[in-house]
Amino acid sequence: MKKLLLLFFVSILSFPAFPADSEVLTLYTFNDFELGYEFPVVTSNGKQIYGAKAVIEAASSTSKTNKLLHVTNPTDTIGYVALELPEGRDAIYTCKKYESFSFQLRRPSSNTETETCVLEILFGSKRVYADSEPVKRQSDKLITYTCPITKVSTNNKQMRIALLATPAEFFIDNVKFYEVAYNIDIPDKTVRYWADQMGKNFGTCVNPGISTGDTFGKTVANNFNTVVLENSMKFDATEPNRNQFNWNADGVVTFAKQNNMKVRGHTLTWHGQNPDWVSNAINAKSGAERRQEAINILKNHIFKVVGHWKGQIVEWDVVNECLNDGQNPAVGGGYSTRNWSVWYTGFGGEDYIDSAFVWAHQADPDAKLYINDYNVGMWNKEGKTRAMYNLAKRLKDAGIPIDGVGFQTHTSVGYFDPSEVELSIQQFQAIGLNVIITEMDMEGGQRNGTELIRAISDSELKTQAEKYGKLAEILLKYDCPTFMVWGVADNRSWLDCSENTKPLLFYADLTPHEAYITVRKAYQNYAVKTDVPEVEYEELVIDNEVKLDVYSITGQKVGVISSMSELQDYPAGFYIVGNKKYLVK
Ligand code: XIL
Repeated sequence: MKKLLLLFFVSILSFPAFPADSEVLTLYTFNDFELGYEFPVVTSNGKQIYGAKAVIEAASSTSKTNKLLHVTNPTDTIGYVALELPEGRDAIYTCKKYESFSFQLRRPSSNTETETCVLEILFGSKRVYADSEPVKRQSDKLITYTCPITKVSTNNKQMRIALLATPAEFFIDNVKFYEVAYNIDIPDKTVRYWADQMGKNFGTCVNPGISTGDTFGKTVANNFNTVVLENSMKFDATEPNRNQFNWNADGVVTFAKQNNMKVRGHTLTWHGQNPDWVSNAINAKSGAERRQEAINILKNHIFKVVGHWKGQIVEWDVVNECLNDGQNPAVGGGYSTRNWSVWYTGFGGEDYIDSAFVWAHQADPDAKLYINDYNVGMWNKEGKTRAMYNLAKRLKDAGIPIDGVGFQTHTSVGYFDPSEVELSIQQFQAIGLNVIITEMDMEGGQRNGTELIRAISDSELKTQAEKYGKLAEILLKYDCPTFMVWGVADNRSWLDCSENTKPLLFYADLTPHEAYITVRKAYQNYAVKTDVPEVEYEELVIDNEVKLDVYSITGQKVGVISSMSELQDYPAGFYIVGNKKYLVK
């Protein structure tokens, strides 16, 4: 056999300089202050200047939980307020570390006319931003300002915000410093960049109409590499009338393709969001005919819907929310499914679950197939997790084509415990099933029943960041393929009062939560630090029939090459070949 001498050209496959850690610093949301607390006004040499008054007030007459700072100056046309920078963060430090600064401003609701104001922001004695874009006075509306931070030469610990206007009265909220994580010009600051490197699906639910022509669509495409339709692939959306299909979700599939994103399918078999004709048709029959009718309807639906998007959907939620609430079985101790679901009553038992998986697999053999549910994920804390384990194991043992289990993970800051999810992952992986997170949101604040009585606090936002970040670390450590959140910005969540509970990764103004940054750190750290043993080769001798396996950095085999130069034709990212890690740019 002919021998080839293959040299490693490490220099053309060198590693990039990795960016330094970065974070969002939320300086003031004012929610942790007592109503009526009075902020210090700006003083000069101990002397108060401009005579402004700054008091904590409720953000609206209906909410006592969301607070802001009300600045007034009855004696002049300028209102200044001084905000202290946290310990150890003087203006110079802040300017070195953060690229921009944002806050929300509102003019008094009594003034409804449109006007132009001049805004000044000062770090210490240095004016960082002056003569801002004109403030269009809009009644009772918080407007977000984002200002670049330029260099300042002062170590003053105070930051001042001033508004020149008549009267000198304004409301200010959500003051924060951040690096522009959602800016595509700096992709290595996004989670998406690192998820792409590792072939992981990191995504959000979206709705038809999304387009990269606006900031929202850009934010989605820049920060996520996977989308799922919030409603438009459900039964009532796709087959509103019997055998008449509606492909409203096509536009989102196109959006995903245009942006090199993947699409999850949600969902084929669920008790919810079914059109009335389904139960009417099934209930019109009885006995064996009834079962046959249910089989006909579900089989046709799955073949048509999965077939329509064949090859374009990475994962399908084949069965959604089939388990009863409140069960707490042991491993091997069984489970109970919702016997009132139209599919259960139609089929006359839970074998609709088995059938749905088989049909989905036949319709698109490449799609990964999942069973999905809520209140599952925390092994000891959520008994339904073990019901899911028992059911999934039954399906797996029966040879049903199931790839894994989706934990929806609609949860809250105080309750959620990522280490419990780790325990679950270990259990499911031991029986050959993937675990993915499909619909995560993590609310802060406090509810009395369903009524929100307190908004998320600053310390809860920090805990939220820790828990989201820890979960991301765990998902990567166990090579879980998918991590999806159920929405982008807090104000567009399906959850009630979400603008105050802030369950997602972006604020309403599309600036990232601290949680976004911790998730990014987890992805970045994992991409950069792998446990691959470094083996020193100067040269590798192979014969031309020997092929080298190419692995993703999480150890999945992604191809075979017969010379290192072939690696350069692979998509950008990290690869492992012969125990060495390479970066293809
Ligand atoms: C929700 C959507 O977000 C809402 O817009 C819709 O009104 C109801 O359904 N679990 C699921 C999702 O599997 O399909 C649900 O989505 C949220 C809970």
